[in-house]
Amino acid sequence: MSPLSLATVTDWVGFSRAVRHLHANKVAAEDVRWRLAGAASDDLFAIADAIDAHSLPDAPAMHLPKSFVAPAREVFLHANEDRLPLLHRLAVRIAHDARAWADPLHADRLQFDRLHREVKREIHKMHAFVRFRPIEEIADDCPSVTRHVAWFEPAHHIVEAAAPFFARRFATLRWAILTPRVSVQWDGRALAFGPGAQRADAPCADAGEALWLAYYRSIFNPARVKVAMMKKEMPVRFWKNLPEAAQIGALLAEAPRREQRMIAAGGAERARKRGSVDIADSAVSGVPVEAADLESLRRRAARCRDCPVADAATQTVFGEGNAGARLMIVGEQPGDHEDLCGRPFNGPAGQLLRAAFDELGWDARRLYLTNAVKHFHHELRGKRRLHKTPGQQEAAACLHWLEAEIAALRPQAIVALGATAARSLLGRDVGVRASEGSWVDRDDGVRVLICLHPAAILRAEESRRAALRARWIDTLRQAGPHAFADMAPAGGAC
Ligand code: URA
Repeated sequence: MSPLSLATVTDWVGFSRAVRHLHANKVAAEDVRWRLAGAASDDLFAIADAIDAHSLPDAPAMHLPKSFVAPAREVFLHANEDRLPLLHRLAVRIAHDARAWADPLHADRLQFDRLHREVKREIHKMHAFVRFRPIEEIADDCPSVTRHVAWFEPAHHIVEAAAPFFARRFATLRWAILTPRVSVQWDGRALAFGPGAQRADAPCADAGEALWLAYYRSIFNPARVKVAMMKKEMPVRFWKNLPEAAQIGALLAEAPRREQRMIAAGGAERARKRGSVDIADSAVSGVPVEAADLESLRRRAARCRDCPVADAATQTVFGEGNAGARLMIVGEQPGDHEDLCGRPFNGPAGQLLRAAFDELGWDARRLYLTNAVKHFHHELRGKRRLHKTPGQQEAAACLHWLEAEIAALRPQAIVALGATAARSLLGRDVGVRASEGSWVDRDDGVRVLICLHPAAILRAEESRRAALRARWIDTLRQAGPHAFADMAPAGGAC
């Protein structure tokens, strides 16, 4: 059969129309040749000879599960040449027998999952590594307008899929992202896609960038450099378009000397605490802490998609409570209940915590409750959503929200419930069992009380639970005088 052509590498509508047609006519995936306009390997003559997928006659719909179609649209964006036969083959198999989609070990399924992961990762990397530079645009008789322009070279055809994120995040700015295949612009109202560009079309460095580079140098912590991790988070192929990456060589070269100086100055401990962000972490969150009021933070966080966890969660679960609270309680992340109702500490661990407040005579309305990570990180087991402990990457991506909450609230003290909260608050690993009940000062002077997470009590063996809970309540009690001026200090080390 003659080759089939698609209008662009993102022409999903043409592709699905063609697959329906091929299925109805029993043409096997191996017998189809595809031509894609705009693909790196396109050949104008070959495309002219091909049958346009949009001109094919209508064919009956194929009934495919959403759980296949949604990721298939993303797999379609992969640059791998085999993706179209793969999607065609899988669609036909699933249309014949829906159970084919349930076999996670079939070779096609494994390849599908791998391509899907790679596309999602590329979208995430684009969100993290686009660097805008401002240019002044002057039109006759009009005041000049600033447009922010970035150059980016994605490995897959993801620009259209990644662009809405920038429209949400930079809704009030005028910006453009140029890439070799396509460009995208935002004028404050709508996204517009246009032809590809060249690197030279993007502006050069400016004074704002010098400021960003100075900030980057200042957060580079020689005591915490993990080069392999850094390259995993910020793959080397992106470095040529990341202004800060040009400094990495020099920063790494001088890292041992700087570390020695820090140790000599007794500053190594301080360097591991908040204020010095691991270079890899900073690449993930990419957003310096700002002071803002809690309500506007909550609104902005509702749109946050800084890490892949956000895509699987129902909503952002931001902190809540008294905006004048003197005590902040920080947990790990929302659980299943919290994800559905959108409020922290509402499930079983939250009930245990709220019962402890009652027992301590604490009025929860005078506290502020939040989590280190604002989205529910989980894995699916059948229909169940099982909690997954957030990794360093998720915690790092969310850190700027937590720091912004602290900056807005300015609490006197913070209770860290569990290891994730303690690590986010203090910038280093804390053995919670060993440090339970101790107070540690952050660099901003706020004191942090290390406590068990209530889930640890729920998970403990029945025979140990009561004793563990009693000790936990005693630990929490130490924070009372910070929250409620009328409360006498506990006998402990507050
Ligand atoms: N566990 C947490 O750490 N936070 C919640 O909000 C719920 C459970």
